Amino acid sequence: MQTDQREKLSTTTVVLHWIVGLSVLGLLTVGIYMDQTHTYALYPLHKSFGVLIFFLIVARVVWRIKNGWPEPVGEYPKAEQLLAKIVHYVLLVGIVLMPISGFLMSAVGGNGVEFFGLELVARNPDPANPSETVSHNSTVSGVAHEMHGIIAYTLIVAIGLHIAGALKHHIVDKDGTLRRMLGQRIR
Ligand code: HEM
Ligand code: HEM
Repeated sequence: MQTDQREKLSTTTVVLHWIVGLSVLGLLTVGIYMDQTHTYALYPLHKSFGVLIFFLIVARVVWRIKNGWPEPVGEYPKAEQLLAKIVHYVLLVGIVLMPISGFLMSAVGGNGVEFFGLELVARNPDPANPSETVSHNSTVSGVAHEMHGIIAYTLIVAIGLHIAGALKHHIVDKDGTLRRMLGQRIR
């Protein structure tokens, strides 16, 4: 299988970066929208895409661990390289924890998880009032719920820094960092 080179990143790296990156941006947007507007009709779709993307996220992280990080395109100040590395770690850990915390919140919280209509975890209706649900363990589902929100906002800050960094490379340094992640061969 093709691996990452300084001049050209592998197709696997580029494709996984953009599919996972854009899906995560979409899920963050939909998640905040549905949470703030209480649009419950979006919940099953959010959960289904969240479970789907989890498998690609795992593939992406395994690929990164096996292949190491792409080499920097040029020479940059140590502090800048360190910041980029910290942001990359926060992004990778954050995107693994988001679907896990979402799944736990819904499954343990009693609301259940459906995958595009297929029931993965059943709802746990309240016997006294079946339209309401009961948590299997409110501590676990509560912590998972908190984590889902806190990690989401941490990811948003990290993605902001990440995009600023990509634009800085492209506009200020005028190097090939962004073009390389778009699949181009650079010198
Ligand atoms: C990469 C994957 C995911 C991302 C980026 C994501 C993102 C988000 C965000 C940003 C929110 C709003 C949080 C807030 O404003 O406090 C949210 C809410 C929610 N997410 Fe996810 N999510 C993902 C995966 C999942 C999965 C796999 C499930 C369940 C199987 C799930 C279930 C939920 C539920 C039920 C809510 C609403 C919580 C509430 O009503 O307060 N999410 N998600
Ligand atoms: C429009 C948005 C985005 C742009 C312009 C962008 C751009 C880039 C660029 C140019 C690199 C290469 C850095 C290098 O060579 O060292 C990169 C790497 C990376 N990006 Fe993004 N990115 C975006 C969104 C995202 C999102 C949303 C995530 C995660 C949720 C993400 C996660 C990563 C990670 C972990 C790396 C390190 C290399 C790797 O694992 O493939 N990116 N990005």
